[in-house]
Amino acid sequence: MDHDQSATPLPPHVLVFPLPIQGHVNSMLKLAELLCLGNLHVTMLVSEDNHARLLRHTHIHSHLARYPGFCFRTIPDGLPEDHPRAGGPLREIFSSIKSITGPLFRDMMIDTNCLGTETRRPVTCIIADGILGFAGDFAIERGIPLIYFRTASACSFWAFFCLPQLIEADEIPLKGNGMDLLVKSIPGMEGFLRRRDLPSSCRVDEVNDSHLQLFKVQTRRTTRAQAVIKNTFDELEGPILSQVRAHCPNLFSIGPLHAHLKARLAVETNSSPNSSSSFWEEDRSCLTWLDSQPSKSVIYVSFGSITVVTRDQLLEFWHGLVNSGQRFLWVMRPDSIAGKDEESQIPIELVEGMKERGYMVGWAPQEEVLAHPSVGGFLTHSGWNSTLESVASGVPMICWPYIADQTINSRFVSEVWKLGLDMKDTCDRVLIEKMVRDLMDVRKDEFQQQANQMAKLAKEAVSEGGSSYSNLDRLIEYIKSMIE
Ligand code: UDX
Repeated sequence: MDHDQSATPLPPHVLVFPLPIQGHVNSMLKLAELLCLGNLHVTMLVSEDNHARLLRHTHIHSHLARYPGFCFRTIPDGLPEDHPRAGGPLREIFSSIKSITGPLFRDMMIDTNCLGTETRRPVTCIIADGILGFAGDFAIERGIPLIYFRTASACSFWAFFCLPQLIEADEIPLKGNGMDLLVKSIPGMEGFLRRRDLPSSCRVDEVNDSHLQLFKVQTRRTTRAQAVIKNTFDELEGPILSQVRAHCPNLFSIGPLHAHLKARLAVETNSSPNSSSSFWEEDRSCLTWLDSQPSKSVIYVSFGSITVVTRDQLLEFWHGLVNSGQRFLWVMRPDSIAGKDEESQIPIELVEGMKERGYMVGWAPQEEVLAHPSVGGFLTHSGWNSTLESVASGVPMICWPYIADQTINSRFVSEVWKLGLDMKDTCDRVLIEKMVRDLMDVRKDEFQQQANQMAKLAKEAVSEGGSSYSNLDRLIEYIKSMIE
């Protein structure tokens, strides 16, 4: 049913469609709200599971109700009700999204005339997660302008884009040998990137591995889109963004998105700070505990929404942290310990020893924790949102990457941005103790100075006149131009 064209013309209607995992939903929800601030109509398409968790653990619905042009829609992710959806490789999520969600998406769009109603145009632009090939296929088939948003770093995107050359040069599959050989086939990364730093999808034995092929094909197909969005900023990843722009010229770097949204909301009248978008209950008691700790004295430990650690690894981190003598705030996500039943419980010695200098929560308000004056370091898995949040808050990092883009992010943190230490591929209490002491004590000033400088650049980028601020204004004008 079409809108009565004689009235004021309806604004553009953008569909925002993330991969249904925490890191992707976080950044795409922030993008959705920034587009609402730009007076666009936005439909955010999330999985039923993600939507239920947002309703249960956040106030995002009431927060976004201020934008009459915003609405959520849900779609099944095709996984069984009791599937953990976190931990371990993402293969099951990817295959279910492709085989089940894909066809349902097409049916939904066709049955609803591309979500057109009395008060909303049929979708005039699809902003799809860069890994959702079927969403791009639909947009192109129906002639709807397509923008891909790859939510991870530009450096990881560029590594994935160069997979054909890496295979051609026999630098991958890695076959487990030569892990410390420098990679030659990624322009702009020749001097420092080792094979072990490549995205974890390269750690396979056969070139025709389905996961490797998915990333190879889907990343190359990014060039089909009219535009590409990256959650990063020119001052952080400028050289790599230039490499990408040679293939995807219409590239909008508008991050750090969490800081960008916060900055724009701050100038909006009577706006409350943006809502959390956590899939787990945030335990805010850690902020009270932080209030009683000395400035920059606490190392924050969190491995994101997917990482799963073994009991042995937990104990190595535990002993390393306790032996370092530093204070620590540790996020032990409920489903983050490998094993069944008793095995997957937090070891009793961790709970006991926690009392003296440590504090443990199941899930934290991470942006607030990283912005807290008592936090002086971040032991992270190098997920891209966590990395950007640490950069924007000026908190140095120890990186212990688990999967995906984390392995390359951690190398850039240590070797290119000099914001911390890379602990890739090891988990040993002696090394952990040494790195924590280096970051929080021995080399504290060196890292803090570098972190303060990068935080300043991040703040400038998302402030009026900054690179990301201007790029977002350009992106919104570009989306509006699609219906003129
Ligand atoms: C996933 C991939 O793992 C990551 O490599 C990719 O870059 C994005 O998608 P995830 O593992 O969840 O993301 O890590 P990350 O990107 O850091 O996102 C985690 C989000 O959860 C962050 O925004 C962080 O602020 C939030 N978080 C984490 C909390 O709110 N509380 C916590 O206790 C831990």
